[in-house]
Amino acid sequence: METVPFQSPRGCLSYLLVDMVTREAALIDPTQEIETETYLAVLAKRDARLTYVVETHTHADHISSAPDIVKRTGARLVRHAHAPSPHKDLAVVGGERLTLGGTELSIIATPGHTDESISIAADGAVFTGDALLIGGTGRTDFQAGSSEALYDSLHTTFGLLSDDTAVYPAHDYQGRTSSTIGAEKESNPRFALTHDDFLATMDAHHPPKPELFDAAIAANSL
Ligand SMILES: [Fe+2]
Repeated sequence: METVPFQSPRGCLSYLLVDMVTREAALIDPTQEIETETYLAVLAKRDARLTYVVETHTHADHISSAPDIVKRTGARLVRHAHAPSPHKDLAVVGGERLTLGGTELSIIATPGHTDESISIAADGAVFTGDALLIGGTGRTDFQAGSSEALYDSLHTTFGLLSDDTAVYPAHDYQGRTSSTIGAEKESNPRFALTHDDFLATMDAHHPPKPELFDAAIAANSL
């Protein structure tokens, strides 16, 4: 599987996964901050066919281009069954598997940032949405977030993956696109917190609402 990262100027990350045998592809978390043509050009260059567009969760800081891209390509839009948007060609829950040519995409429930957050594990990598960021985690103070659930996602879900698993988050504000589970366990300060300290830290963590919050939630729930 080839993984192609896309970075928006505001730190949003999307990933194109291409199965090298069948040239089937999946696109995770496409954003309107990146031209649709940019995604399509990368697909065309690899002679790949887009099978799935996957949303890791309902984004609150940018408007997704998933509906546009599935319309343009015939791909199926994959969301968690509890995502507010009714536009789901495939409604998934944790434990399900999608086949992408010779590559298996495992859907993992990783709630906490939102209650419908999923991660996708494939070929030694995990695409974590905002559940696990490089050196951080997503916030838990809106969209039915839960610090308790995020603690469990970190320690009983991500924490059980092998240390060399590559981590691809949905955001990074320093230009990075990947880490590993081992590196995050070792240096991510949120991973280092005890259960009680994690809950206290996250429950007191109320950064400003994203600039596009209302517009993004409305558009991404259609
Ligand atoms: Fe988010």
